[in-house]
Amino acid sequence: MDDFFELIAKRESCRNYSEKKVEREKLEKCIEAARLAPSACNSQPWSFTAVDSPEFAPQVAKCLQEMGMNKFTDNCPAFVIIAEEKATLSARVGGKVKNQDYAPIDIGLATAQLCLAATDQGLSTCIMGWFNESKLKELLDISKEKRIRLVIAVGYAVDEELRQKSRKSLEDIARFM
Ligand SMILES: Cc1cc2nc3c(=O)[nH]c(=O)nc-3n(C[C@H](O)[C@H](O)[C@H](O)COP(=O)(O)O)c2cc1C
Repeated sequence: MDDFFELIAKRESCRNYSEKKVEREKLEKCIEAARLAPSACNSQPWSFTAVDSPEFAPQVAKCLQEMGMNKFTDNCPAFVIIAEEKATLSARVGGKVKNQDYAPIDIGLATAQLCLAATDQGLSTCIMGWFNESKLKELLDISKEKRIRLVIAVGYAVDEELRQKSRKSLEDIARFM
């Protein structure tokens, strides 16, 4: 169990990547971890596009940089783009009845597993929700009807030292009854 909390402590958003390529097997393992994530009604409403070619990665980076954001991605050797796929009928009906949108929740869970699997393999990640969705879809040949929910930068961090985590206290966010 200690190892699990060590892993959580080690995962942080990396915004300074070395040019070292990410091994394909490691990227595959990250997506495998995401594949095993739980989802409402086991709907698995997700698909993953891994981009690790020197041709495409910089083009993905450009799609993340509107309004001066995410400039650090220029050097990033790999990205995983997570699109929302159609949920199963039971998940959609359940969501309607309970007035919930389960698919983005499911994608969040898959993303967490993906990022922790990356950390476990010595990689670093940054989850990004700021991107030009239509340009990304065009670049990656993803249908206009779909939503891209997140882009994950994956690579080797230049800085080895971890930052102090800035978080609300347990007292502020949790109650026990
Ligand atoms: C849904 C989501 C969207 C995010 N979008 C961005 C982004 O576009 N650019 C960025 O640099 N960080 C982004 N982040 C990273 C957060 O800023 C970061 O997780 C948070 O500040 C906590 O820091 P840590 O990840 O280092 O622990 C995003 C994180 C999440 C979960």
